[in-house]
Order: sequence, then C-alpha cells, then structure tokens
Amino acid sequence: MEKHEDQSLEVLQTEEQIKKKVAILGESISRDYADVDELVLVAVLRGSVYFTVDLSRHLSIPFILDFIGISSYGGGSSGIVRITKDLDVNIAHKHVLMVEDIVDTGLTLNYLLKNLIIRNPVSLKVCTFLDMPGRRIVDVPVDYKGFELPDVFVVGYGLDYHERYRNLLYVAKKDLEK
Ligand code: IMP
Ligand code: MG
Repeated sequence: MEKHEDQSLEVLQTEEQIKKKVAILGESISRDYADVDELVLVAVLRGSVYFTVDLSRHLSIPFILDFIGISSYGGGSSGIVRITKDLDVNIAHKHVLMVEDIVDTGLTLNYLLKNLIIRNPVSLKVCTFLDMPGRRIVDVPVDYKGFELPDVFVVGYGLDYHERYRNLLYVAKKDLEK
C-alpha cells in the first residue's frame, strides 16, 4: 500500500464512494442482463482487474470472466495496440461486456471493440470505471460508467503511473511535477 502522505496525490474518489458506485453498477448490469443465459465479462489487462473483480462480486447473473491483454506502442495513447494475451473464451453468439479502467482518448477501446466485434458476439457493451469525455479523439460507446473526470492524470484503483499506485483503494489526481 502506498503512503497516503504522498505529496503528489490529491484524492478525487474515496474508497467509500468507489464501493458505493461499484455496487450500483453491478446491480444495474445484473438487471439489464437478467434474461441472458451467460455473460462474458472481459477485463482489459492490467488496469481494469481491480475494478472487474469488485464489480463481479455485485453481479447476480451467471457470467464467465475472461481477460484480454494489450500493450500500447510507446506506452501512451497512440491507438496502435498489440494484443499480448488473447481471450480464452470463444465469444461468438455470446453477450460480451468489456470492462475498462479508463476511457481517455478512446483509441484503445476503439481498437478493442473493432477486434472483438468481428468475432460475432450477440452483443458487445462497455463498462468503464472512469471516463474522460473531454479527452476523446475517437467516439466510442460507453454503456456504463463509474465516474466522469476532467482532463487530469489519475492513479489508484488499478490505474498506474509507471506501474506504481495500482493498489490504492482510492483514486487520486497525480501531480506529475512532484
Ligand atoms: P485511451 O487514451 O482511451 O486509449 O487510454 C489508454 C490507456 O491509457 C488506458 O487504458 C490507461 O491504461 C491509460 N491511461 C489513460 N489516462 C490515464 C490516467 O489518467 N492515468 C493512468 N492511466 C491512464
Ligand atoms: Mg489500461
């Protein structure tokens, strides 16, 4: 656990706020997919693992958990994405919900959606923990979202800065100068 006294961090969403929001999202997804035999929950490695696990505990519907691993060339939001670990499940004729940590420029999600849609799922929707609509370069559909944020760099609850801070129980704005 990183120290709370880190001077470069400013808490934006507390642990309590996150817990409440994740429960609400889980209930809403469970309602919407109540008639679906089996949902495939696709977590995008690595950032969304924390959110996906917590969210899945609030699902009252049957689901399969699967993972897709990606790596962006240059590390940032280039939109040029490589799949480092593919799904194990065949999603053809299945209902699929992609779970993201953050939709920023939308380039990564856009690539992933294009990649998954050609596998012929019955439905393909997106649930993101954080959304930064003001940063969008490509328009992507977001069906469920936890919190909307302005254009800031954030860490915690799965989100990292050079692989640090993922295990914070809260989301914080990270001052990159400090
Ligand atoms: P995109 O810009 O929507 O393609 O987002 C690409 C990826 O960049 C996200 O999945 C995150 O891993 C990372 N990312 C974008 N914004 C932030 C941020 O504020 N903090 C940490 N990671 C971020
Ligand atoms: Mg990511």
